[in-house]
Amino acid sequence: MKQNIIVTCTFGLESVLKRELASLGYHDRHVQDGRITFGADEAGIARANIFLRSADRVYLKLSEFDAYDFDQLFEGVREINWQDMIPANGIMHVNGRSRKSKLSSVPACQSITKKAIIEKMRLSYGIDRFPEDGTRFPIEIILEKNKAQVTLDTSGAALFKRGYRLHTGEAPVKETLAAGLVLLSGWKPGTPMIDPFCGAGTLLIEAAMIGRNVAPGINRNFLAMEWEFLDQDIWGKAKTEALSRINHRKLELFGYDIDAQVIDSAGLNAKNADMDREIDFACRDISKFHFSGENACVITNLPYGERIGDKGTLDELYRTFRNVLSPYDKLDKHIFTAHDHFQEIFGRADKKRKLYNGNIKCHLYSYFNQGRADKGPRPDPGRPSRKRRGGQSGEKP
Ligand SMILES: C[S@@+](CC[C@H](N)C(=O)[O-])C[C@H]1O[C@@H](n2cnc3c(N)ncnc32)[C@H](O)[C@@H]1O
Repeated sequence: MKQNIIVTCTFGLESVLKRELASLGYHDRHVQDGRITFGADEAGIARANIFLRSADRVYLKLSEFDAYDFDQLFEGVREINWQDMIPANGIMHVNGRSRKSKLSSVPACQSITKKAIIEKMRLSYGIDRFPEDGTRFPIEIILEKNKAQVTLDTSGAALFKRGYRLHTGEAPVKETLAAGLVLLSGWKPGTPMIDPFCGAGTLLIEAAMIGRNVAPGINRNFLAMEWEFLDQDIWGKAKTEALSRINHRKLELFGYDIDAQVIDSAGLNAKNADMDREIDFACRDISKFHFSGENACVITNLPYGERIGDKGTLDELYRTFRNVLSPYDKLDKHIFTAHDHFQEIFGRADKKRKLYNGNIKCHLYSYFNQGRADKGPRPDPGRPSRKRRGGQSGEKP
């Protein structure tokens, strides 16, 4: 039977997630800020959890209805056949959100939702008390412009918790965001990739998994695996499919960081992800940056004021980075930062995309290889970016 499945992501990664869904064969999609709804059979729940790199969670959509008052909310929730999904001892925890809706009190909406579920379960199971000591069923009630949406969270632990990153440095990016940045950059596995501020190695480990086509959830468990109402075969089949897709392509991935301890952590994380043979890590200050190959793609996440470092020394670090890169014409450069005046230091980017790291507004600034036929002149590194010129791709600065 066809299900409606919702996948959520960091604001700004919707286009990447949409492409990921297309590559899994899901073309019937509805895209909103930070979430995409698509139609699929039950197998889609397992495949979305196991294969998607940029998604944060996978939800099963149960219902959508108008809810201008509590009666409508109660009736809409009670209509759902909860007894077909949740056993008598299931744990029914309700989370909620409300935006631009008459029903603005989230605790009240959660409480009404829970009452309606219990009412339906009471009638179906013929009992009054539910022990709630079995499997978890995280329920979400979202009110948006007086429409209620009821979902079940199938992932359990968020999808960024891949399980390989036991050690982090300062200000790591989430695994899902790191994968999204690599996918946004357009890096191709045949090209060397360098992260000169690699920290815990997240960008490189995600790139290695992309290059080798290793599904991020291949070794993970998901909450919905415990739900008996779903066909249990979907998980095994998706994992077999994931195994069959892995390749043994040779990759050239390089990670540097000034902090020797952080480099050790990155190596351990890569080992946990079974990607340690794919990545060379070394302790190196950015001022010693060098690269002897032809083309390469630099993808990195520099320190930025919000979390680490102080503004003056940060600007100096950014200038050093710009200067060490300037002799290399044939590099694609993708720099992710929350630095307010980044382009004043680095020059106007060929492409600029707004993204959020947690709740910090950041941008991914892309500078493409001068030799690429489809690109205009290389931006002048010293020139401040006051106004965007017509004809350039990307968002407004
Ligand atoms: C924002 S963190 C990178 C986080 C990384 N993307 C991750 O997910 O773990 C920035 C890193 O830059 C490193 N760093 C700071 N100054 C540096 C320098 N002069 N040369 C090289 N690395 C430096 C820090 O040690 C830190 O690990």
